[in-house]
Amino acid sequence: MKKAYIETYGCQMNVNDTEVIFSILEKAGYSRTESMEEAQLLMANTCSIRDNAEQRIWGRLEVFNQQRKSRPGVLVGIVGCMAERLKDQLLDTGKVDLVVGPDAYRSLPRLLEAVTPDSPQMDVLLSREETYADITPVRTDKNGISAFISIMRGCNNVCSYCVVPYTRGAERSRDARSILREARDVYDKGYKEVTLLGQNVDSYLWKSENQTVNFARLLGDVAAIAPDLRVRFATSHPKDISDEVIDTMAAHPNICRHIHLPVQSGSSRMLEKMRRKYNREWYLERVARIRSVMPDCGLTTDVIAGFCSETEEDHRQTLSLMEEVGFDWAFMFAYSDRPGTLANRTMQDDVPAQVKNRRLSEIIELQNRKSLERYRAMIGKQVEVLVEGPSKRNPEQLCGRASNNMMCVFPALDRQKGSLTSVTVVDATSATLICE
Ligand code: 5AD
Ligand code: SF4
Repeated sequence: MKKAYIETYGCQMNVNDTEVIFSILEKAGYSRTESMEEAQLLMANTCSIRDNAEQRIWGRLEVFNQQRKSRPGVLVGIVGCMAERLKDQLLDTGKVDLVVGPDAYRSLPRLLEAVTPDSPQMDVLLSREETYADITPVRTDKNGISAFISIMRGCNNVCSYCVVPYTRGAERSRDARSILREARDVYDKGYKEVTLLGQNVDSYLWKSENQTVNFARLLGDVAAIAPDLRVRFATSHPKDISDEVIDTMAAHPNICRHIHLPVQSGSSRMLEKMRRKYNREWYLERVARIRSVMPDCGLTTDVIAGFCSETEEDHRQTLSLMEEVGFDWAFMFAYSDRPGTLANRTMQDDVPAQVKNRRLSEIIELQNRKSLERYRAMIGKQVEVLVEGPSKRNPEQLCGRASNNMMCVFPALDRQKGSLTSVTVVDATSATLICE
């Protein structure tokens, strides 16, 4: 059997796509390897969300190309969002044999049959139907405890800064029965946690002749598989997260108390330009509603600094929203102009890099302070953690996440990997709860 090596960049959806790709490649006679040197097929599953994500891939392509030159027969593939966005531009480098977009992975066996050093192959067709529903992903996680399940693909939102609708196509929901089957299957295999994945899980909607399943219903059905199966999900959209979803979480203790709710900006003017379809007040109302139903719910977010025309006042609004909400954690970015997006076509990327970076630093600094506050507020509390394995820093300790997604470290004693255990928080940093 030949061997395939895949590096994955970008979001968790890509991690899951890589698992789907390995499953498809098995049919083409390739097994998975984690060593680039022993592989006959080298691939990068790529991300286009910001320019620096793509720059990294260009660097990896040089490394792959060295392998390709020194070991005849080795093939190099670029798949995922960057393949979709750049298409021929990748083939034109002469360093790539395969270019395959996110909806075309089923073509891989056919493309691999056809590819020769002189005829590279490409399939970047986007689909309205493809959800890879029937493909059982080859799990690539190391611990066998936490599995990710894609419930939908693509995105219909067209936020003005975002390249995703162009690289991953229109939104489509996967057959609910196949999602439940996959969740039951991983539970039977010993997994203790599933995370339901989509660009915007709240707009999940699947219809058959006799039933309609929305996200709240799906979430409840997955939670009902077993009381000791933890259920997580990402990503929620502030405009779509419904009371029904919040109430479903509250009704099931095994649905983890954590919502990733990207705000992007605290300024209603910016949110309008970003086409987020909610304003600051709406966002704060959703947070209030979540906290009134689940006071212990963890909240994390994404923030963009320096979007087109952002003023100091807009920036201050972002800082004040972050101050007011007090997120546990945030992913924070400087705005990166992406070719083809609405913002790229109709707005000026007019905030100087220096200003973007200064604003980003202020955002990061504030969030670090808030994270520390939020984590320290847990001191003295008892939390239930799912034991994931040895802590990275101190192998004599174990680590695992609390329901609210905070990472905990605690003494091993006779605790087993994959078990749920109760610990008491005795100290905290801005990213870890120290427990006993
Ligand atoms: N520039 C900077 N950040 C971006 N994101 C999406 N597009 C861009 C861009 N053009 C961020 C958003 C999104 C996260 C996945 O990436 O915050 O929620
Ligand atoms: Fe991009 Fe908006 Fe879709 Fe998220 S919801 S991927 S930000 S278009």
